[in-house]
Amino acid sequence: MTPTDCLEAADSEAAARAAMQILLEQAAASISARGRFVLALCGGRTPERLYRRLAEADEDWDRWHLVYGDERCLPCHHEDRNSTLVTRCWLDAIDFPSENHHVPEVELGSDVAAARYAAAIETLLPLDMALLGIGEDGHTASLFPGHTHPFHSVVPVHDAPKPPAQRISLSYATLCDAAAVCFLVTGAAKHDALRRCLQGDDLPAARIRGKTRTTLVTDFPVDNVARR
Ligand code: 6PG
Repeated sequence: MTPTDCLEAADSEAAARAAMQILLEQAAASISARGRFVLALCGGRTPERLYRRLAEADEDWDRWHLVYGDERCLPCHHEDRNSTLVTRCWLDAIDFPSENHHVPEVELGSDVAAARYAAAIETLLPLDMALLGIGEDGHTASLFPGHTHPFHSVVPVHDAPKPPAQRISLSYATLCDAAAVCFLVTGAAKHDALRRCLQGDDLPAARIRGKTRTTLVTDFPVDNVARR
């Protein structure tokens, strides 16, 4: 992983604030240049603070399009779905155009959902920004170490080691076609994976970089992490 810029935050709350600033800057630039901002969202626990802060922002939401870097194959509105997290923490608090919230139909199963999502978001690619987390094993989105995927823009995942096993994910190519990538990585459990990515281990997260910008927002002292 070779970030173009690293923002070291004192804690998770400060990291959420810093990541929000990065997103809003990229949104303003994308909207100014192309009239819209296409953002791929991540799931898990880390982005919750960020999503709650975005619920307090005053943005031209009609210009935003939200897609998912990955989604878990669970029933509609299941509490463990990434889209449920985004809706409850952010979109329920603002007036966001539902047609711009592109939720994968993962209740159909990973193979069907991946094919349908690839078609659904085709006209939104390439992404303006991908917001990504990193797992303790170095995965990002639902791209896990040792897994191989077809050369599609959206790939089915049948055997994710992080439950649920069935998911869909944007592919490496789709994520690397994004103009900008922002990794939001906080918590001691991520220290080793982040160090390995920064030191060049071939982990899924280390393979992702944006076309023009790759920002790492973290509560770790990155210099120390890179030295060990
Ligand atoms: C998911 C996420 C996944 C997540 C990492 C980190 O569906 O689980 O998209 O890629 O970003 O696993 O998760 P935490 O933020 O919960 O540590």
